[in-house]
Order: sequence, then structure tokens, then C-alpha cells
Amino acid sequence: MRGIAIAQEKGGVGKTTLCHLLALGAYWHKEQAYFMHTDNREPIAVHGRPYGYYDAREPERLSILIDSVINKDGVCIIDSGGNRPEFDKWVSQSVDLVIIPVIPDYEAVMLGIAHRENLASYGAKHVKFLLNSVSSNRNEQQRDQREYFDLLPSADILGKIGKVAAVKRLRESDKTAFVTPPTNVNNLARKLYKIVNAELTAIERESAIAA
Ligand SMILES: Nc1ncnc2c1ncn2[C@@H]1O[C@H](COP(=O)(O)OP(=O)(O)OP(=O)(O)O)[C@@H](O)[C@H]1O
Ligand SMILES: [Mg+2]
Repeated sequence: MRGIAIAQEKGGVGKTTLCHLLALGAYWHKEQAYFMHTDNREPIAVHGRPYGYYDAREPERLSILIDSVINKDGVCIIDSGGNRPEFDKWVSQSVDLVIIPVIPDYEAVMLGIAHRENLASYGAKHVKFLLNSVSSNRNEQQRDQREYFDLLPSADILGKIGKVAAVKRLRESDKTAFVTPPTNVNNLARKLYKIVNAELTAIERESAIAA
């Protein structure tokens, strides 16, 4: 089992959306995904999706779910929302890669940098930033890069995920039945999966060489 956590103290940067996108991307690439919803501020209803989506808001429930998938093939995706130091410590010790989404917003960048330092101090070995909600407009993109994204160390940026309004449908399905997403959402999901899969493969290669 490969383990990914998506974490960021700043709210509304796309943690939950990116978890859904990544799980959907895994589905399109025929890898089993287990999305653990752990954000205890947010109630969910788990409806039929083409990937596993589990209510893991109770720590005991999360631990039972993790035990049941740990020896399976696939990717376990943990939505690590909110300011929860104890949970961050567990995440730092338990997953292969932590992804910190950053949007074009000064507070999101600064909290993302601070969060990365915290995770590293808890022992997380692989923590990367992901630029989310990147504008498709060239001028806006250049401005956001200059004003916000250039504040991040470029070697630690995993990639960019564009701003696609239809991703909200993935979240709407927390309340209503899951509807097959439109092509632009599926393409974004495939792109995110490829970015994450390439990083995990590099981490796996690195640890094989070290062993
Ligand atoms: N790439 C994107 N393109 C367009 N909209 C996006 C994108 N990513 C996220 N959003 C939108 O941003 C809003 C916040 O996203 P989301 O709820 O996933 O963030 P979050 O980090 O999980 O928030 P919270 O901290 O409250 O749990 C949602 O309305 C979502 O649809
Ligand atoms: Mg969320």
C-alpha cells in the first residue's frame, strides 16, 4: 500500500477536492484508491463512487480501516484537514508522501511553508507543495507566480493543478449521488495521478537504492 496525505492548515485550499481528484485519477489508471475522510469538522455521506471513500473521522475507525487495507495493493489517500498537531505527527510517521496544496494567496503560502517545517520536525521525509487553482490566463498566471508561488522553494513544488470550476461536483457528491465527472475534471484527475505516481516511484526507487 502506498500512503499519501494532503495537508494544509489554511482552509479552502483544495485538500478534499485534490483527494477526490487523486482517487479518481487512480481509478482511471486502474490503481485501487482508498480515500480516508478524516476531517472531523465536516460531515459526509459516502455514496457510490468509482473509488473507495471511507468515513474515517473517528481515530479508532481510521486505524481499523488502515489495518484492513495496509497489505493491499493501491494507494491510501488521507485528507488531513484542520489544525491537528497529534494527527500531523501520526501522518508524518505513516505515509510515503505529504502534499501541501497552495493557492495564489499569501496566507496559504506562508501557512504551507510553516506546515512543511512542522511535518519535517515530526519526522516526515517527503513533503511537497502542489500549486492548486492555477489560472489558465497567462497574465494572471505570471502575476500569481511572481507574487505568491515564487515564495516557495521551486525544488519542492510537485506540479500545478489548474482552476477548473467543475471540480466542485466532486464535493457536491458528498451530499448527493455521484455523477460521472466531465472530461476536464477527468483529465485533471489523470494529471494529478501522474504527478503523484511519478513522485512515489522516485521515492520507492530512492529507498530501494538506500536499502
Ligand atoms: N483546482 C480547482 N479549481 C477550481 N476550484 C477548486 C479547485 N480546487 C478546489 N476548488 C474549490 O475550492 C473550494 C475549497 O476546496 P476544498 O473544500 O477541497 O478545500 P479544503 O482545503 O478541503 O477546505 P477545508 O480546509 O475547509 O477542508 C471548493 O469550492 C472547491 O470546489
Ligand atoms: Mg476539506
